[in-house]
Amino acid sequence: MRVGVLTGGGDCPGLNAVIRAVVRKGIEVNNWEVVGFRNGWKGPMTGDSRPLGLDDVEEILTRGGTILGSSRTNPYKEDGGVDQIRATLAEQKIDALIAIGGEDTLGVAKRLTDDGIGVVGVPKTIDNDLGATDYTFGFDTAVHIATESIDRLRTTAESHHRALVVEVMGRHAGWIALHSGLAGGANVILVPERPFSVDQVVDWVESRFERMYAPIIVVAEGALPEGGAELLQSGEKDAFGHVRLGGIGTWLADEIAARTGKESRAVVLGHTQRGGTPTAYDRVLATRFGLNAVDAVTDGDFGVMVALRGTDIVRVKLAEATAELKTVPPERYAEAQVFFG
Ligand code: F6P
Repeated sequence: MRVGVLTGGGDCPGLNAVIRAVVRKGIEVNNWEVVGFRNGWKGPMTGDSRPLGLDDVEEILTRGGTILGSSRTNPYKEDGGVDQIRATLAEQKIDALIAIGGEDTLGVAKRLTDDGIGVVGVPKTIDNDLGATDYTFGFDTAVHIATESIDRLRTTAESHHRALVVEVMGRHAGWIALHSGLAGGANVILVPERPFSVDQVVDWVESRFERMYAPIIVVAEGALPEGGAELLQSGEKDAFGHVRLGGIGTWLADEIAARTGKESRAVVLGHTQRGGTPTAYDRVLATRFGLNAVDAVTDGDFGVMVALRGTDIVRVKLAEATAELKTVPPERYAEAQVFFG
């Protein structure tokens, strides 16, 4: 059997661990030939691939990023994109594909399966917002990086009696903000799911200053003030219709400074949250996902995504996984609110 593997969308620590598991089990246990397609769906569209042997995946378990490269290419937005994929698979004698990605990449995987191409999905995203899985790999690493940053920012904020606003990633879901804010003891956590009142934030900040502590406010990039609109870095949309967000942290720090008269600073963690080596948790999760994706292909079980349920890896329909984003539910946000102010 010849199986293709690709990584699409924003990169994420743990992608290489999945690739390694697919190659190791595919070759050593199942006697497959494994082919890596470069740069997400662009690879099968353009025929850009490389054979993946055991030597190629040596020492990549701990490496961040993806040895295959990634892109946000959407074959359904390109003229003849799906036909080009079919032609590549026929030409390169590929029997099935393993697509590692988030909602967009797996949304394409679902449509391709409906169009008769055998695809198994593996869920990745630092945002942890994919449905039908308890966790995606990459999230734990991002939370770890954000928490460590909050810990560091706290000591400098205390020294200078400043408010520090930490902007983390999370376009539509506030999981990184929620978990890093809880772990880092933030005084306010703002998520896209819940528009916030600036007056309320200012009250919390002031009460923190009154107790002689410097407040830390963790804000997801997609969080909005009540009645406000998302702050955009650029109005340009990618092939999946996403704009580039950013700027809420600076905007909020300026508001806090203006309303409290206290110094405020904003720090945007940005892509540091996606870079570097994955945590042990993410390495294990990514490896288990890769091994189970190989089994799904072997069983001819296409149109599924491997998913974490409790401590088990299960298979769910790609349709279920991509039906709606998994956002922070009100009861989880309420847990964090106990520590606000
Ligand atoms: O999709 C994951 C994510 O990390 C989002 O939280 C963020 O908005 C986006 O990627 C930014 O990615 P890029 O800069 O690569 O477009």
